[in-house]
Amino acid sequence: MHSKPIFIKHANQMITLKGSSVQPLTKEKMSELHIIEDGAVWIEEDIIKSAGTTAELEADYKSRLHDAEIIDASGKILLPGLVDPHTHLVYAGSREEEFNMRLNGATYMEIMNNGGGIHATTSMTRKASEEELVEASLVRLDRFLKHGVTTIEAKSGYGLDWETERKQLTAARKADELHPVDVVRTFMGAHAVPAEYKENPDAFVDLVIEEMLPKVAEEKLAEFNDIFCERGVFTPEQSRKLLEAGKKLGLIPKIHADEIEPYEGAELAAEVGAISADHLLRASDKGMEMMAEKGVIGVLLPGTAFFLMAEAARGRRMIDKGVPVALSTDCNPGSSPTCSMPFMMNLACMHMGLTPAEAITAATINAAHAINRAKEVGSIEAGKKADLLLLNVPNYMQMQYHYGMNHTDTVIKNGKVVVK
Ligand code: NIG
Ligand code: FE
Repeated sequence: MHSKPIFIKHANQMITLKGSSVQPLTKEKMSELHIIEDGAVWIEEDIIKSAGTTAELEADYKSRLHDAEIIDASGKILLPGLVDPHTHLVYAGSREEEFNMRLNGATYMEIMNNGGGIHATTSMTRKASEEELVEASLVRLDRFLKHGVTTIEAKSGYGLDWETERKQLTAARKADELHPVDVVRTFMGAHAVPAEYKENPDAFVDLVIEEMLPKVAEEKLAEFNDIFCERGVFTPEQSRKLLEAGKKLGLIPKIHADEIEPYEGAELAAEVGAISADHLLRASDKGMEMMAEKGVIGVLLPGTAFFLMAEAARGRRMIDKGVPVALSTDCNPGSSPTCSMPFMMNLACMHMGLTPAEAITAATINAAHAINRAKEVGSIEAGKKADLLLLNVPNYMQMQYHYGMNHTDTVIKNGKVVVK
């Protein structure tokens, strides 16, 4: 059954980010955007067939205009659907009482070391059924979509045992099938040392490497392999071992690096050839330089610094040093309980020194690169998936300037209008 073509026309500014599907954007290229004024897009089925000015497309598709569904984007901006390359989508419960404890002076690591934090969510997630996890994930995916996000990454890591890690990944796969937002999966069995292995963390790392990673690869449960490399969690040596073991099985390395303390996580990401190093609040200059040299994407999570009331990652410095920067919510129940990429983009401008143009690049094409999806999404170009976002602002700077509001007007996912 063929659906009608969709013709979006008269976008005040159409932010195409064209020509950026091969390599993530760095330095000045992060500001280019490739804007077309009075922009238009012709969509057939789930694909962008053509993008240009309204006059160009009206001429090209003259004989078929009467047959198309027309969306008038006058006064609005059109951009690629946002991509969130780092979420902990699948979990049970919530942790607002820890938020209250932190406001009363407790630290994130203290709470975790006393059995709360990741451990609290782990015990709730172990008890939940796969159906309950799917349900909770679908609610969050709705929130992402309403904020203009059309593709996300989702990690396991609240099981810390095989049964629950697997349950999280199969729940993510089901949520992906049931919901318009695409969900790309990452295995993160090494998210914390479970209480059972407190005295012998090396044995837990070996368990993840020997028992879990081969099953993840065999059952094709995930494309990426992530670890929380942090003092008091997993060491750089343990992280190297686990990421290298994943590589041998075809799992692409990612790493939670230098979030709370400097720990040479950025350096390690470059050394193992990770596709991205995430967080980087305390990344060293040397680590940034090594990442730039190897093209490791810095996935920055400004909501985490905001919510943990910590100093933000040095995004400006990373861009100036040539690191390709992407943005993400880190959506999780402890350090960043949000599904709003636009708010992250605003925080990146206010607390990391990114410009509005850089924030858009970081939340679209560079984010797509961070999850190996840049050939399909992240820019408006013929042949790409028709994942598009119309915002109720007349120019892209107003997206950040009018902060703390949801400017979403229309979301198109796989060529279908899913938010209107
Ligand atoms: O990315 N840092 C580790 N993991 C998550 C937080 C998980 C949690 O607190 O539940 C993060 O911030
Ligand atoms: Fe995270």
